[in-house]
Amino acid sequence: MLAARRAPLFAFTFAVLAALGGCEKKPTAAAGGAAPEAPKAEAKPADPATPPADADTILLGEVGSLTGSEATFGISTKNGIQMAIEEVNAAGGVTVNGKPKKLAVRVYDDQGKPEEAANAVTRLISQDRVVAILGEVASSNSLAMAPRAQAAKVPMVSPSSTNPKVTEVGDFIFRVCFIDPFQGTVMAKFATETLKAKNVAILKDNKSDYSLGLSQFFTETFTKQGGTIVAEEAYSKGDTDFRGQLTVIKGKKPDAIYVPGYYTDVGVIARQARELGVTAPMMGGDGWESEKLFELGGAAIDGSYFSNHYSTDNPSPVVQGFIKGFEAKFGSKPDSLAALGYDAAMVVVEALKRAGSTDGQKLRDELAKTNNHGGIAGTITLDDKRNAVKPAVILQVKDGHTAYVATISP
Ligand code: PHE
Repeated sequence: MLAARRAPLFAFTFAVLAALGGCEKKPTAAAGGAAPEAPKAEAKPADPATPPADADTILLGEVGSLTGSEATFGISTKNGIQMAIEEVNAAGGVTVNGKPKKLAVRVYDDQGKPEEAANAVTRLISQDRVVAILGEVASSNSLAMAPRAQAAKVPMVSPSSTNPKVTEVGDFIFRVCFIDPFQGTVMAKFATETLKAKNVAILKDNKSDYSLGLSQFFTETFTKQGGTIVAEEAYSKGDTDFRGQLTVIKGKKPDAIYVPGYYTDVGVIARQARELGVTAPMMGGDGWESEKLFELGGAAIDGSYFSNHYSTDNPSPVVQGFIKGFEAKFGSKPDSLAALGYDAAMVVVEALKRAGSTDGQKLRDELAKTNNHGGIAGTITLDDKRNAVKPAVILQVKDGHTAYVATISP
């Protein structure tokens, strides 16, 4: 009764949001800054070359930070996805309802902002009518997207959002990476067992679900092992002066500092820490993963450790083959975002093939059955909470690149 009464109200809200989504959208570079006439016209995909969906094409949606302070997250993911889709299309595409179809991806740039990410989902669902959505990287952005995908019953697969809350939004939300209770534990164990750290300071991003979650999970394991968190300082994404927090941290003489943030802030934090004479080793999570980290952090970030999804040092022929193909195509080594983007797209493709249909419910049910999928960043088996359970690697920053240190299994 209650549900029946609420349904039309919700449908109305959704329509309004869809309309607002169009109005709020700032024209992207691809849109040329032209004043839009209708919501349809202003919702320009980041890549105008994307072919429109037609009878022979299945359209997937993608939301990512192609610009802004986490731009490498979105760009790498987009490239990984593109590589997967081109491979699948070259091999004949997928067969649905008995007919062979090619795949295309419509990509929207959310500039790293949760509101934009949510608006992009509305556009992908109500205008582009995509069959599934790939994204986002940053957990706060995925958390903004997931309720809309769930409400519309369009499956959403995050390649790399690790905060547990993302898939808790509902049964249409999946991820192909591990989650942060595991990632936090991995680094806490490394701090205790390898770095022999007893006192650790934390510097976290108060605006990021990812950073707050990882701080909490790290603390839980680290203190259980007898360690002490001697300082817990915070910043907000985009801050440029971290000296106040770092001075407090310095005064507590920690054996190591845990900074579970994103690369842009981390690079600056590392420089300012070393300038202030803080010599304790720094540790982080997958959010450090970017070529830009080395540029921003310079020598200050050298020697630091972070947990990640894969290592380009992995000698497996599958991984090395992927790296070679990616380098030939994009002129750079694929980071873990690219690997997970590729994996997420392939998991969707495999589910589409098994479903033989683009029906949202059928596709959801097949995605949920993903089992032993051989990915670039590890084998993907989804648990009953739609999360992948797989090992993490620990990497060390060395002279402008990362060196493999260890693999830690769940
Ligand atoms: N795990 C991060 C998050 O949830 C995103 C990320 C994944 C960043 C992989 C870099 C590499 O916010």
